[in-house]
Amino acid sequence: MSTASAQTIGVVGAGTMGHGIAHVASRSGFDVVLVDINPDLVARGVQAIEKEMRRAIEKQRLSAEEMAAALGRIRRGSSPADMAGADLVVEAIVEKEDVKKELFAQLDRVCPPGAILASNTSSISITRLAAATKRPDQVIGMHFMNPVPVMALVEVIRGHHTSDATTASVSEAARRMGKTTVEVNDYPGFVSNRVLMPMINEAAFALMEGVASAEAIDTVMKLGMNHPMGPLALADLIGLDTCLNILEVLHDGLGDPRYRPCPLLRKMVDAGDLGRKTGRGFHAYPPAGQR
Ligand code: CAA
Ligand code: NAD
Repeated sequence: MSTASAQTIGVVGAGTMGHGIAHVASRSGFDVVLVDINPDLVARGVQAIEKEMRRAIEKQRLSAEEMAAALGRIRRGSSPADMAGADLVVEAIVEKEDVKKELFAQLDRVCPPGAILASNTSSISITRLAAATKRPDQVIGMHFMNPVPVMALVEVIRGHHTSDATTASVSEAARRMGKTTVEVNDYPGFVSNRVLMPMINEAAFALMEGVASAEAIDTVMKLGMNHPMGPLALADLIGLDTCLNILEVLHDGLGDPRYRPCPLLRKMVDAGDLGRKTGRGFHAYPPAGQR
């Protein structure tokens, strides 16, 4: 679809971001195919979409008919082969370059020649993902922010060979989803995470060094700087594994010790405390019944 408008969007990865992208795409009138390596997670992703849509109904931002129509546009798939009918595929799997490259090579084999392959990566080189395909001009970064239904931005990242037509198509699809786009070039962490992650990392160092408690650090940034949530709570929302992976990309790609991931962050990931998605990170997130 390098020049025409997308009708069918494939989303690979049904986790925090993938389910959010499927949510907004379906509400914006796109047909959506949602796949994950783990089929249970597709079901869980659709449940999360239903819950978010019910919340939108309660707030009178969506009608029951619109919800039914949007859910009816989401098809559950089980493998990259289900992307054969997609005009635009948005990859939202784990933030690991080797895993993403393998997926891009697979998508390149199964998707129609005109299809655009976009990555929701937070930090990884779009140019290197594109090099895993035979269509580098049709590979691009389409970086949604978390939570996808709430955040207004899509950072559009041009790889070395990304064409103007691909950039225009993806920007148009993002606008159709109600998002504002900002175009940036392909450097580690782009703009968003090059600026955000050092703050989160520094907050983790402050906690590790005993400067203050997690609550105190977050309160300073919320009340003192008017951030909607503190950096440690934000890290929990993003996922500590994802934060660590992004910091590794910044550290490796920019070669500056200031991006060295905080050892406490690394230890928490090793311990499986990944933030909201596992119920514990810098803060605790007990299940609804136990709060
Ligand atoms: N899905 C859908 N809607 C959601 C939602 C979700 N997961 N979470 C919250 N909302 C909605 C709520 O329904 C509510 O809507 P109304 O205004 O219509 O009532 C609104 O968002 C506010 O929610 P809450 O009242 O529950 O909570 P809050 O006021 O504390 O806001 C927040 C929650 C929107 C997450 C806010 O704290 C915030 O904006 N935090 C910062 C988020 C941020 O910085 N995101 C970027 C992360 S970095 C990134 O994404 C890039 C990367 O590569 C890592
Ligand atoms: P997540 O861990 O919540 O979900 C990732 C999903 O991908 C999981 O359901 C997993 O089963 C699936 N998966 C892993 N390998 C797969 C494969 N080979 N094929 C199909 N599915 C596979 O992660 P997330 O937070 O949704 O992050 C996804 C991507 O979005 C990452 O690149 C991340 O950097 C980026 N991102 C994350 C955020 C955030 O705040 N969490 C924000 C913007 C961008």
